[in-house]
Amino acid sequence: MKKITVIGAGNVGATCANVIAHKDLAREVVLVDVKEGVAEGKALDIWQTSSINYFNTRVVGTTNDYLKTKGSGVIVITAGIPRKPGMSRDDLIKTNAKIVKEATEKAIKYSPDAIIIVVSNPLDVMTYAAFQAARKSANKVFGMAGILDTGRYRAFIAEALNVSPKDIHALLLGGHGDTMVPLPRYTSINGIPITELLGKEEIDKIVERTRKGGGELVNLMGTSAWYAPGAAAAQMVEAIVDDQNRIFPVCANLNGEYGLKDIYIGVPVKLSANGIEEIVELNLNEEEKKMMNESANSVKKVMKVLDDMKLFED
Ligand code: LAC
Repeated sequence: MKKITVIGAGNVGATCANVIAHKDLAREVVLVDVKEGVAEGKALDIWQTSSINYFNTRVVGTTNDYLKTKGSGVIVITAGIPRKPGMSRDDLIKTNAKIVKEATEKAIKYSPDAIIIVVSNPLDVMTYAAFQAARKSANKVFGMAGILDTGRYRAFIAEALNVSPKDIHALLLGGHGDTMVPLPRYTSINGIPITELLGKEEIDKIVERTRKGGGELVNLMGTSAWYAPGAAAAQMVEAIVDDQNRIFPVCANLNGEYGLKDIYIGVPVKLSANGIEEIVELNLNEEEKKMMNESANSVKKVMKVLDDMKLFED
């Protein structure tokens, strides 16, 4: 791909740009930030690892000059303030909605054909905000959360079983918050159902730790995580750039799937150069359906806060 833009040169954006460069996913990565010099500095720092880490991707930064992002194939939006201890992701909405709206509008002006991946929190609702700001088809605007959340889930399982995380396959539905729905019924260790290797109590503990996985890190560091969020977003970029048809849990716009409509929420999708090729619908059992609906309700509540802000009236 010729160009990929990452908006927001905070920890998540810079990590994402770094992973994209390491994987040589584009000729150029443009990092954008509003703080004078930050994107330029981080981009220069990453670029100076190119001869050490052996990649060609040119990494450049800019303070808010969106002209430099012109012609991007993928735009990753990480801009916004992160959580502090005691805050939920939903507490960020008022500030971040305006930031995400403005970033999307400016970026799309110069790259009307780009696929947009949203990473800013509260994730599901910020993806919905970017969708409204971009005025693009929903299969080109989606959010990153499921890869991060299953990444945490898989790491905890690998630890509990003392096996390679590479062998752990898992799925998770729902919003990127404490109501997310990890699915032990769809979790295996290279095909071996997790239920054959771990007891219910242990699985329940892992599911609970996954749900609070972001908060655990906020409490440890005083701010939210970046290595796993950045890498997870880069994995989505890779699936698009290399047209991989990979199945990932992604925050997508539902139009009747899972019995839900007019909502952005995490579901498994097939991801290719066209963006979301299809939404994969699972035969959920009653308990899973109930959890998915609860998660959808909590996302809808935050969507309503966004709607009430009336940012997208015209
Ligand atoms: C997390 C933030 C990035 O889950 O939402 O770490």
